[in-house]
Amino acid sequence: MDLRGDCPEPREAISGLTMPKNTKISLIGAGNIGGELAVAIARAELAQHVVLFDIPQKEGFAKGKALDLEQNSALEGYDCRITGTSDWKDCAGSDVLIVTAGIPRKPGQDRKDLIATNLPIIRNVADRAKEHCPNAFVIVISNPLDAMVYEFKRRTSWPKERIVGMAGVLDSARFQLFLARAANVSVKDVRAMVLGGHGDTMVPVLSACTINAIPATELIGKSELDAIIDRTRKGGGEIVGLMGTSAFYAPALSAVAMAAAYLNDQRRLLACAAFLEGEYGYEGFFMGVPCVIGARGIEKVVEITLSEAEKTGLAASAAAVKEIVEIVHATAS
Ligand code: APR
Repeated sequence: MDLRGDCPEPREAISGLTMPKNTKISLIGAGNIGGELAVAIARAELAQHVVLFDIPQKEGFAKGKALDLEQNSALEGYDCRITGTSDWKDCAGSDVLIVTAGIPRKPGQDRKDLIATNLPIIRNVADRAKEHCPNAFVIVISNPLDAMVYEFKRRTSWPKERIVGMAGVLDSARFQLFLARAANVSVKDVRAMVLGGHGDTMVPVLSACTINAIPATELIGKSELDAIIDRTRKGGGEIVGLMGTSAFYAPALSAVAMAAAYLNDQRRLLACAAFLEGEYGYEGFFMGVPCVIGARGIEKVVEITLSEAEKTGLAASAAAVKEIVEIVHATAS
């Protein structure tokens, strides 16, 4: 299956050389994460055109942010067109959509507290995306993530390969940082993954966590590891408590890694919220699992061996995700 659909043919440059096709990424939501996404994509020159989309009341904000970031290109030297809009027609032909539309958490709030506000928003976004961007690969970031990405798929009926939720890459990054600090080594040498739902029941997979091939359990004591797992689970809330709103730098870069894996056919193995059809014994909802992302989107869900405690943790996480998916169904139209 060609997920990019009817992409334009490579165009001829004036010099007669064949240029690569114009890649377009639309960012649905031009707020904190949207802005970071735009600048990270532009710096990496991952797309020739980035669209910052927001609601009509924030059209000027989206346009102004886009212009600021385009002017920044003269200083940083990236070639990328960045435009702001509130018209879905400007997102037409997007190769990738990254969805951050919705409200973020405030101190004391759980991600679940956002569902009443963010469900109607994701429904609107899914309907417009279906109409204007029928061939896009979609990365959903809006919270509560597992419910939002589920509703996007339910509403569009798009294939599971083309819709993914961003949570695991971010949660894994948080886990990796805390492990690196505890072991007093470079974060570059820590490999770790967090699976399950994007909430307090997420499952940091200690059995698959290494520091340059050395099991983390050999370098960090049990009580410290327990504290790290707990801090990882509450990693988003810790930042909300400090800043008064949710994180945006690491969430944006996490999604950019996923978009790059798709656009450049990198076949990265990343923890992502994927639609499950029997993997790990679960089906009919999205949950964080190791995925291979390449040119065909989610090309594979990789099933790894988990410890008994991790399996129990994943079951509890799946139950929490199912609970929130029930809310989606109860209000579905
Ligand atoms: N279509 C497009 N954009 C919308 C829509 C909509 N229907 N509804 C709201 N938005 C926009 C808001 O106007 C706002 O500019 O989404 C943007 C969200 O930006 P922020 O409030 O800055 O929130 P941000 O920190 O970017 O987080 C967005 O991602 O991680 C999650 O929990 C977080 O749900 C939150 C989302």
